Amino acid sequence: MKLFIDTANLEEIKKANSYGVLDGVTTNPTLLSREKSEPMAQLKKIAEIVKGPISAEIIGLESGKMVEEARKLSEISSNIVIKIPCTTEGLKATSMLSRAGVKTNLTLCFSSSQALLVAKAGATYISPFVGRLDDISLEGMNLVRDIRLIYDNYGIGTQIITASIRHPLHFLEAARIGSDVATVPFSVIDKLMKHPLTDIGIERFTQDWKKLQDNL
Ligand code: G3P
Repeated sequence: MKLFIDTANLEEIKKANSYGVLDGVTTNPTLLSREKSEPMAQLKKIAEIVKGPISAEIIGLESGKMVEEARKLSEISSNIVIKIPCTTEGLKATSMLSRAGVKTNLTLCFSSSQALLVAKAGATYISPFVGRLDDISLEGMNLVRDIRLIYDNYGIGTQIITASIRHPLHFLEAARIGSDVATVPFSVIDKLMKHPLTDIGIERFTQDWKKLQDNL
């Protein structure tokens, strides 16, 4: 499973990238609004750090406007992927952009029917938001499971990005289901390698090694 970081923060991106396991970045207007810099400039800086796909979201709600914004965002860097919401206008824009060879990430996906239609329109990625479904007492991971089943039924190549991940179990479950990508906030990425028994084990090995040196 590919690992993307879900943030627009340069420090977090640099840190996660230094682990050597980062495949891409997803941003959204909320994440960009938390940074001090102008969004296009910030996206350019992000694209300079990570060579994999960088999702940048359009704001317009009408397909013509979406395509126009997509063209501008694509000029930032060749690895920019256009994030478009799962609406009928988004569907139209996705069809136009996919015919023009522009990569897209269909966001705010909350149903399998949305996922199937955007795949037919040529979406490169689909982003089911698991955490936000959990927030309203629906099981978010069931959506990822259902999309995987439907895509596999028809050999659909649109890649599933499990998004709105809130904790390590979301990440693990995404891997069990066969999600192509998980986009994970930095705070959760850091938790993925943590284990108290690893820390206790290191401490014991260090102490025993020191004892051995002292006794030689
Ligand atoms: O990738 C989508 C993500 O940014 C949304 O996460 O936590 O705001 O639901 P959240």
